[in-house]
Amino acid sequence: MKKVALITGATGGIGSAISSQLINDGFKVIATYIKPMYDHSVEWVKEKGFSDDQIRLLELDVTKVDECQATLTKLLEEEGSVDVLVNTAGITRDAQFKKMTADDWQAVINTNLNSVFNVTHPIFPSMLEKKSGRIVNITSVNGIKGQFGQTNYSAAKAGMIGFTKALALEGAKYGVTVNAVAPGYTATPMVAKMREDVLDAIKAEIPMKRLATPEDIANAVAYLVSDAGAYITGETLSVNGGLYMH
Ligand code: CAA
Repeated sequence: MKKVALITGATGGIGSAISSQLINDGFKVIATYIKPMYDHSVEWVKEKGFSDDQIRLLELDVTKVDECQATLTKLLEEEGSVDVLVNTAGITRDAQFKKMTADDWQAVINTNLNSVFNVTHPIFPSMLEKKSGRIVNITSVNGIKGQFGQTNYSAAKAGMIGFTKALALEGAKYGVTVNAVAPGYTATPMVAKMREDVLDAIKAEIPMKRLATPEDIANAVAYLVSDAGAYITGETLSVNGGLYMH
């Protein structure tokens, strides 16, 4: 039986690389999507040539607590277990704080942070019961160092790090590890939509002088969920080309 990995935001920039990597590592990936992304998700699976025993698309709005509870309880029954959970779903609504609307704030907190409760809460007890499981939360360099124009995003991503450490303590004696991966600026559609002059200035500050590839991030996740990562918990692994060292 293949181990099952549930990945939110699975066909986005970083999520799709994590999905591919874990499929290549032998997992069955449950890839969540929201309705507007359905055609894109199907297209992506087709392009990759993945089969039904390698990937299953699951419609899930991670901002809806009741929907997550119902859908993920059913998923557990259908799949038997979820061995790995990667919380990847995230959005940006960048603006200087003085210009930020309440909607910009709430959208980012809901999608990037409240989603982590909504998705992890139905799954975590089953990992404790099974006495094994891996959770990886995709945070950001900007949740560690802060970023001009990202009070909402930095707050949500910093919140994920606190959540990771606290939940790691609750999972530890059951052999359930909880870690975070903190990407730097990564070549994804999210970063591509930044203002060119702002992105150029950031690139100039990266000691490795390049953006991360989505695969750089996926490799870190693959390590944390592999047997080699069994004794690592509560950790935030930065993959940022030296942009920020903490
Ligand atoms: N530090 C200090 N001051 C800064 C600054 C910085 N990093 N960036 C801009 N400023 C200053 C500017 O110099 C300018 O000053 P003056 O008015 O004196 O000239 C003032 O702030 C206004 O700057 P902008 O023109 O940039 O302001 P804006 O309101 O037009 O734009 C913004 C605001 C959209 C937030 C823009 O600054 C921006 O895009 N910033 C980058 C945000 C960012 O890094 N987003 C990452 C998205 S990708 C992602 O989030 C993935 C991940 O995990 C890394």
